[in-house]
Amino acid sequence: MSQLNTREGKKSDCSSLYELVKEAAQTNKIPVDPNLTPEGLEEIGFGPSPGFYSIVAEKDHSLVGYALYYYTYSTWEGRSVCMEDLFVTGTENHNDVATAMWKKLVEVALAADCGRCNITALQDKKEMLNFYECHKAINLTKSEAWHFFRMNQDSMAEFVKGSKVPEGITIREATPSDCIGIRKQIQDLADYEKMPEGPQIDAEVLKTDGFGKQVFYKACVAEEEGEMVGYTLYFFTFNWEGRGVYMEDLYVSPSHRSRGIGMALWRKVIRDGMALQGIRCDFAVLDWNLPSIEFYKSKGAADMTELRGFLFYRMRKEEMEEFVKK
Ligand SMILES: CC(C)(COP(=O)(O)OP(=O)(O)OC[C@H]1O[C@@H](n2cnc3c(N)ncnc32)[C@H](O)[C@@H]1OP(=O)(O)O)[C@@H](O)C(=O)NCCC(=O)NCCS
Repeated sequence: MSQLNTREGKKSDCSSLYELVKEAAQTNKIPVDPNLTPEGLEEIGFGPSPGFYSIVAEKDHSLVGYALYYYTYSTWEGRSVCMEDLFVTGTENHNDVATAMWKKLVEVALAADCGRCNITALQDKKEMLNFYECHKAINLTKSEAWHFFRMNQDSMAEFVKGSKVPEGITIREATPSDCIGIRKQIQDLADYEKMPEGPQIDAEVLKTDGFGKQVFYKACVAEEEGEMVGYTLYFFTFNWEGRGVYMEDLYVSPSHRSRGIGMALWRKVIRDGMALQGIRCDFAVLDWNLPSIEFYKSKGAADMTELRGFLFYRMRKEEMEEFVKK
């Protein structure tokens, strides 16, 4: 019987990967970005700051499946990974091949010091949900009430037409010396979200991960007279529909709200996403956080959990470590 081999994807895999991506898109009835080509995959995935990484499953020198992932960042637990896609071609034993690829991905993620493996799942894909759950991934939409929000390309274009930054406020990219202030605001946001024990990382970790050899996130701060009054932290995403930006945190100090600072920070995130040809801006909101939900909806973002059944799944570090041992 031929042997199944899983390994990290290489630039020379891009033609075969592209064929699998097209098959996955057809199976899931989701259109592939018409501008995406094998060469495009090479450029995005194997350039100086890769937009995605892959794990491939190989049998008889042919690719029979792939997992697509990218690094993300949690302001609570630091480096994380998002498994965007897990696909096995028609003729294979799906669960075995998918498990082998996921396991390889988790091995790579643990070696990069990631403490979470995130997955976005669809409510009506019951088989996939069972598969994730049987490997101990948790449905966070169910357990913590996180909803998936998305601003699409048209709303992004409309939103960035505005350019107003409130008087006296400076919006600028964060520098390493902002990490202490950002860490404090991360705590303020966690307190607001009623999860004060959430943030585990310190300012030093933020410094290494945002400004070290490999950059895991971008951050911007809002300042008034030298005082930090808000921040946003974000990173870039990729799937076969196109590139995107994920806003992990957006926070404005209570005494500075309703002046347009939140919008100015969010606009900066979207502009950075659009500069990379991003076509969506995603983020998570707790279902009870109605003022923020109203704020996001009023600017054209949609609750994809409500509309399309998007769910957040997560394998935590403990389960990741158990998974690779099996
Ligand atoms: C959400 C948050 C970042 C918004 O920041 P902000 O600086 O207060 O918001 P802005 O002043 O930029 O918002 C201004 C715009 O949003 C609208 N808006 C703000 N709050 C709103 C609400 N509750 N309902 C409807 N619209 C709202 C305003 O009407 C205004 O629009 P306009 O200029 O067209 O009139 C801020 O309230 C916050 O930090 N909240 C707590 C933390 C949080 O929930 N963060 C998001 C986690 S997912």
